Amino acid sequence: MTDVQTRTDAEESQAGRTGGTPTRRGVLVGAGALGATAVLAACGTDGSGTNPNGTDFDSDPAPAGSTTAGGGTGDGGGDSGGSGGAVLVSAAEVTVGGGVITDNLVVTQPTEGQFKAFSKICTHQGCEVSEIKDGQIICRCHNSFFSIKDGAPTSGPAQQPLSETKVKLDGDNVVPA
Ligand code: FES
Repeated sequence: MTDVQTRTDAEESQAGRTGGTPTRRGVLVGAGALGATAVLAACGTDGSGTNPNGTDFDSDPAPAGSTTAGGGTGDGGGDSGGSGGAVLVSAAEVTVGGGVITDNLVVTQPTEGQFKAFSKICTHQGCEVSEIKDGQIICRCHNSFFSIKDGAPTSGPAQQPLSETKVKLDGDNVVPA
């Protein structure tokens, strides 16, 4: 007589669930599930910031030879030898009695050789000024006008002057003082 397997898949599955004699399939499925769980646990991040050695990732020093380990040789980026900062604008671009709106400032030249700079943020409600005309810095949001001499409001709803940044002429350029 030959040994014939008589269990169906459903019977094997049932036997695995009910605690009966484990089948080969049940054992393999179970082992696979355990393996997947172990892999997931090994790959998972628990947010604690520690590695399996118990050290804190966040406070680990950079590896030897790293440029971020504090041993850099940079000189700190010195610029124009005491001019006080980067060039704001070429003086030639700033007309007498007018000005230029740069990335952050309004640079004006009320009288020849006298340079001023003001914040370009309007003191009324924070729009950026957008125009310089007839000796006035103008915010078109609500039509506030400011003097190019001192940033004082001259008409419109703004009540406070534009904040001033001290500048000076350095060669052909206007730079922070
Ligand atoms: S924000 Fe400039 S006038 Fe109102």
